[in-house]
Amino acid sequence: MKKHTPSRLRRNGITRRDFLKVTAAGGAALLLPAGLTSQLAHGASSPSLTKFKDPLPIPGIMQADADGSFAVAMKEFRHRFHSDLPEATVWGYGNEASGYSTPGPTFVVNSGTRTQVTWTNNLSTDPAAPHYLPIDPRTLAVIGINHHTGQPETAVHGATNNRKAVVHLHGAQGITAFADGDPEQTLLPTEAATYDYAPQPRAATLWYHDHALGNTRLNVYMGLAGAFIVRDPSELQMIASQQLPDPAYEMPLVLQDRRLTATGKLAYSTRFNDTFMGDVMLVNGKAWPHLDVQPRKYRFRLLNGSNTRNYTLQLGDGSLMFQQIGSDGGFLAQPVPLMSITLTPGERADVIVDFSNSGGQNIVLMNHHIMANMTDEYPIHEVMQFRVGSIPAIDNVTLPAALATIPPLDPTNAPQRYFKLEDEFDPNVGDAKWHIAGPRLSDPPEMFEHPTHDIRNDSIEVWNWVNKSDMIHPMHLHLVQFQVLGRWKAREDSKGNIIPGRNIGVDPNETGWKDTVRVGPFELVRVIARFKGELGSGTENFPFHCHVLEHEDHEMMRLFRLVY
Ligand code: C2O
Ligand code: CU
Ligand code: CU
Repeated sequence: MKKHTPSRLRRNGITRRDFLKVTAAGGAALLLPAGLTSQLAHGASSPSLTKFKDPLPIPGIMQADADGSFAVAMKEFRHRFHSDLPEATVWGYGNEASGYSTPGPTFVVNSGTRTQVTWTNNLSTDPAAPHYLPIDPRTLAVIGINHHTGQPETAVHGATNNRKAVVHLHGAQGITAFADGDPEQTLLPTEAATYDYAPQPRAATLWYHDHALGNTRLNVYMGLAGAFIVRDPSELQMIASQQLPDPAYEMPLVLQDRRLTATGKLAYSTRFNDTFMGDVMLVNGKAWPHLDVQPRKYRFRLLNGSNTRNYTLQLGDGSLMFQQIGSDGGFLAQPVPLMSITLTPGERADVIVDFSNSGGQNIVLMNHHIMANMTDEYPIHEVMQFRVGSIPAIDNVTLPAALATIPPLDPTNAPQRYFKLEDEFDPNVGDAKWHIAGPRLSDPPEMFEHPTHDIRNDSIEVWNWVNKSDMIHPMHLHLVQFQVLGRWKAREDSKGNIIPGRNIGVDPNETGWKDTVRVGPFELVRVIARFKGELGSGTENFPFHCHVLEHEDHEMMRLFRLVY
């Protein structure tokens, strides 16, 4: 399954596989402190499980208080990933009225209205409680002084062995930096914060998840994620006029890969690694579930909530197609029929699947993605199963020809920014260290917590992601939904300037509003966004980062500052 993409763009001849070689050669392994026994030995597999045995859990709806605001806690509880496994300790969200679950209960809010949520960290009663997962002490080692803050810097930026947490509403637009969930403004157990989210402009599939600096990969892995649905009048009208399925036939499908110990506990590599691949497929928190469906249309909100894994999803042999109706930030202009859908971490697809001609069949949702240039020791081919009943169902839903109007943003006069995605060898953790550098070859990687540029509120900018590596980076911007202007093979001229090479094109399901975009090996992807926030009481800094959580935690996250 190894693949190699040769490129003239390779900066220093060190490839990802070279890093793996260094690691495998023992350089890093020797640094593993004695006593840190591997919870899951390298190459060990999770217990084998009967697939499609358990029904798909559907997260409940997050219940509001009488005044319409939400009080939500993060909590540790027991959860069964599969009925043949004992219960495991996980983290999730919820409240008494909604229950606690992982993924957390689904928010359903209306566009145009403010949403207030008081988030409380109840992951322990002890603010100093250590993390549940083993923390590689090398990630905590102080490796120097941060030249922006003057504070000691840990090998994995900001990593701590505690239960700090902060909630980010992924895809939310026009909000204050405070409500965005600043990765440094974390809550320790027993602490709470109230976020006042500005009204969202349109129906969309957002999601909420943890964003604690240096600990995000671990907190999300423990279960801190959930769906956040925004509805708008035009969508409700389409539902009422049977152009979209009734919400009774609509649900989120949160895709996450995990590794489990022999006794069914969550296992995460004890050594810091720049990727994480699991061999157990969870959908809505259950391993390889099945869903009984009627022979009719359903609406699924697909969300890749995995740390590193990409999915290319297909229904059975592909003869049954998806009709994609929405992307990250809202409806597409019209339904897009697709045999397969690729989702990188953080991306969503709002799809209609019509089972009406599949009565009596079992259809497996397959994953055909091959991770670019990395050895996937834990390939996952099957995701879940749909069991289509044979009793005919009444379904009068006819998808409309047009779903939404998406006015294109105008790039004329918009400033262009270039960001290089690259890695270097990090001797501190013995693995690749990913970062986002400036436009010139000589530009050093910048670190988080130092906004590298100011953006005037309500202005339009064009951003260019230049991938100088051989793996996909799903690049995500906070605060905005953008439009994808193009995708090319990245080429350097003799002066080291990046220019578009061969045009690879934008997929039809990438023509709507997006907040996370796939930037493939050695590609240049250009996006355009209007940066508009809501002035809060602090400095209005917003992160942008790769949504591979191991990359984000390392150094592949930076800040822009919105200036009013
Ligand atoms: Cu989904 Cu900065 O996050
Ligand atoms: Cu986000
Ligand atoms: Cu990345």
